Amino acid sequence: MATPTSSPPDRPSVTKPIIEARQLGKVYHSGKLAVTALSDVSFTADPGEFVAIVGPSGSGKSTLFYILGGLTQATSGSLYIDGAEFSRMSDIERTRMRRAKIGFVFQRFNLLPTLTAMGNIEIAHDIANLGAQEKTPLDRPLLDHLADLMGIKGRLNHRPSELSGGEQQRVAIARALISRPAIVLADEPTGNLDTKNSEAVLDMLRRSSRELNQTVLMITHNPEAAQIADRIIHMRDGRIRTIEKGAARLVHEAWTE
Ligand SMILES: Nc1ncnc2c1ncn2[C@@H]1O[C@H](COP(=O)(O)OP(=O)(O)OP(=O)(O)O)[C@@H](O)[C@H]1O
Ligand SMILES: [Mg+2]
Repeated sequence: MATPTSSPPDRPSVTKPIIEARQLGKVYHSGKLAVTALSDVSFTADPGEFVAIVGPSGSGKSTLFYILGGLTQATSGSLYIDGAEFSRMSDIERTRMRRAKIGFVFQRFNLLPTLTAMGNIEIAHDIANLGAQEKTPLDRPLLDHLADLMGIKGRLNHRPSELSGGEQQRVAIARALISRPAIVLADEPTGNLDTKNSEAVLDMLRRSSRELNQTVLMITHNPEAAQIADRIIHMRDGRIRTIEKGAARLVHEAWTE
């Protein structure tokens, strides 16, 4: 199939990065102590790209995610999300942007214990809708698709305590994806899972990034997991040391060779 050489004028160029970080720095102050968690972090990520972030404990990976997700501010540098500078926005604008464009997946799942799997997904949709100019109803076909993709169709009426760790994480991913965020930030999504469930979760993240053209940034300690990414960012002491190409393959493609 022929590839168009330029985008139609009414559509943004496909090569415009969705994330652009320029010399981000972060210093935490606790009492008299100043801890430099990030220094001079610059990179871009394209729409639909899968980026793994690896590095030793304390190298600043989660701090970078908190900044990318608008949960904390960088001390220096600038960050553009979909062309808009995050640090120049008011708190309200940043929160709105986060709800509309960014989905989070955490190591500890963070599902609400009193709600069913379905309730957890619905509330995420409601939150994403808060402050939105046009309210959108829950996308039932997408929910069905995600439930299928995540293998949780029969589990939607269960509470988190009635689900396995792998199932809880897959519900958490469905919850992150239901509002079609352009960016998914996953901080060690397989950190609490055994090998089999880890593979399933990684496959689902990789597939959804391809199918829904989502940019996924995933922190991982597992070198094999990192290989499913298009690019791998290596961090140490709050800095990016190298950025290498990943194998960009599904786990099963990578691990059955
Ligand atoms: N709220 C905070 N106040 C003070 N220092 C902090 C705070 N949060 C993180 N740090 C410090 O900043 C540095 C980077 O921490 P960060 O959590 O980003 O590392 P990480 O790469 O995610 O580590 P891990 O792999 O253990 O999760 C560490 O030295 C940490 O102690
Ligand atoms: Mg961390």
